[in-house]
Amino acid sequence: MKRAYNFNAGPSALPLSVLQKAQRELLDFQDTGMSVMELSHRSKEYDEVHNRAKQLLKELMNIPDTHDVLFLQGGASLQFSMVPMNLLTSGQTGNYVLTGAWSEKALKEAKKVGNTHVAASSKGANYTHIPALQDIQLSENAAYLHITSNNTIFGTQWHEFPNLSVDLVADMSSDILSREVDVSQFALIYAGAQKNLGPSGVTVVIIRNDLLERIPENLPTMLDYRTYSTSNSLYNTPPTFAIYMLSLVLEWVKEQGGVRIIEKRNREKASIIYDAIDRSGGFYTPHAEKGSRSFMNVTFTLPNEQITKQFLAKAKTEGFVGLAGHRSVGGCRASIYNAVPFEACEALAQFMREFQNQYV
Ligand SMILES: Cc1ncc(COP(=O)(O)O)c(C=O)c1O
Repeated sequence: MKRAYNFNAGPSALPLSVLQKAQRELLDFQDTGMSVMELSHRSKEYDEVHNRAKQLLKELMNIPDTHDVLFLQGGASLQFSMVPMNLLTSGQTGNYVLTGAWSEKALKEAKKVGNTHVAASSKGANYTHIPALQDIQLSENAAYLHITSNNTIFGTQWHEFPNLSVDLVADMSSDILSREVDVSQFALIYAGAQKNLGPSGVTVVIIRNDLLERIPENLPTMLDYRTYSTSNSLYNTPPTFAIYMLSLVLEWVKEQGGVRIIEKRNREKASIIYDAIDRSGGFYTPHAEKGSRSFMNVTFTLPNEQITKQFLAKAKTEGFVGLAGHRSVGGCRASIYNAVPFEACEALAQFMREFQNQYV
């Protein structure tokens, strides 16, 4: 078997050892004679998996006791609605920083729920950078400030977070667990799992406990964070297999030495590809401005569409997968999440240099 050089934006690469462990345990989980998929979500065996995933995430992200970890479904996209439904009480305003397509979508849903305000935006610059912290202008009665910590499509990332007197909410779908973050700075963090945490199907929400007190009473049960908090995310059937895979991925992060080591490796991986871009004399053009570059999604263009097509076609024949840019921006994108090995980034940089040499 030859593993692909997988640069998919999500769902994306998973650690090989995690897949192998899941394979070994697939038919008979811990001598139960059943697959994890076949266990009752009320069984002792599943309970251990569930709590282990929660415990490991707390440990790896150093989540303080002031915050709870919830497992939901509906993807990060459902959080675009749940955040304002739970936190945007009447008379208040949901503040949003627009840094790309996902923050636009988050704002769109919030508008359906209550008052909103764009506190800063880099849309005018085609989302090539993260707005400067001093340019963030909060509205009066701000319920929260929502940011997208990493912009998967445009390839930009916040490298310093706003520290204003407002509850900070972050969509961390595409960079959670990729770097050390001070969770206490955030009122709420959410992330779909399918990039750094595991397969799709589970969404992680990290919520400061006091926020639960301001949730309106009339929300549908399944859209109310309190339902998940009071039941340890077991009010109804959780996505058990996805949570099991999450627990294996978290074990893997721990074995690697934790988030600090993963972050160091991610920076090295990103610099290999950014170096290939920066040393190409303009053949490859980065989308993101230097200070806003993402360590997770490296976005770049080639001299024209024709050459881009050739690049993508040749890359495919050499075993590189998922390098086409998002359909809304074009060009190329290499998503290099935690599980993408160093060697895949080196192989890509080498391929980029060789491809360019055909043209000079
Ligand atoms: C930053 C960000 N937010 C939200 C989403 C949407 O996630 P989901 O498909 O889990 O709803 C994505 C998906 O790629 C994303 O990258």
